[in-house]
Amino acid sequence: MTTTNKHISVLQHEVIEHLITDKSGIYIDATFGRGGHSNAILQSLDTDAKLFAIDRDTDAIKFGTQNFQDPRLKLIHSDFSSLIDICKTANIFGKVTGIFLDLGVSSPQFDNADRGFSFMNDGPLDMRMHQSSYSVTAKDVINTYEEKQLADIFWKYGEERLSRRIAKRIVHHRSQAAINSTTQLANIVKSCIHSRQPKHPATRVFQALRIFVNQELEQLETLLEDVYDILCVKGRLAVISFHSLEDRIVKNYIKSHSLPKETDKSIPLLPGDLQSTKMHWCVRKLRPKDEEINDNTRSRSAILRVVEKL
Ligand SMILES: C[S@@+](CC[C@H](N)C(=O)[O-])C[C@H]1O[C@@H](n2cnc3c(N)ncnc32)[C@H](O)[C@@H]1O
Repeated sequence: MTTTNKHISVLQHEVIEHLITDKSGIYIDATFGRGGHSNAILQSLDTDAKLFAIDRDTDAIKFGTQNFQDPRLKLIHSDFSSLIDICKTANIFGKVTGIFLDLGVSSPQFDNADRGFSFMNDGPLDMRMHQSSYSVTAKDVINTYEEKQLADIFWKYGEERLSRRIAKRIVHHRSQAAINSTTQLANIVKSCIHSRQPKHPATRVFQALRIFVNQELEQLETLLEDVYDILCVKGRLAVISFHSLEDRIVKNYIKSHSLPKETDKSIPLLPGDLQSTKMHWCVRKLRPKDEEINDNTRSRSAILRVVEKL
């Protein structure tokens, strides 16, 4: 079992270049992980700046507490969907210069077999980022949800074309014995898919379960609803996403708050069009360069988008 604490941060230089507009400002890293981006943010700020770093994973916060001794940094164990309350409590609501999100799981979460995120390591089917007893685990979902519910999860969050066949096979297997481990589940999925693609056949089902268990899309939507009010004027939001479902949410949010890229000059804008324009694009879409992808294959699907509040 690997329990490394190493996580290589993605698009680090690009994030700093586009997020930091005031070296004495107030910043939020809503996905602290192992603090790679937080560290880079702190290095680029002056001594009077502030950084609030959030993570829902107790291991991440423990790592931060043990390894970061910086008076400008405040670590907070929370879901980022509660950002509005965090900001009100800290009296920084409407004053934040930059909010940063690096979505998904960290390498230490993924590589630790006990967390159950990966079909590459045999471990309990858990997949909770927030290790609290009240949230449902992947094992609960796989062993208790109805066949149709399972198929819907695999389709909606994994875009798995064989969702029905896989759900049926899971229900058949669990009627004989509970499905407790990542390897058991990966083998069942594998037995349903005859593909020569290099991607592991269980990739989409594991992604779907992880997104569902952690309510990842709902968390993102809730946070985005509050971002505009949390930022100060000229404050920026920078988001790195790793798959089309989360990127679509980010893109649609930004689109609904910003002017279209090319407005037809011959068509006059109505006052309502301008009133609803609250943000403008700083970075529409930025992907890692080839060198970064060669050094860190996890970065290959990353997309960075940045907007500024008008
Ligand atoms: C990709 S990692 C971030 C890595 C980090 N940028 C670094 O350089 O080390 C994502 C982190 O965000 C956390 N996370 C994901 N969703 C979250 C949520 N809704 N609320 C709080 N933390 C979340 C995960 O627990 C994980 O530690």
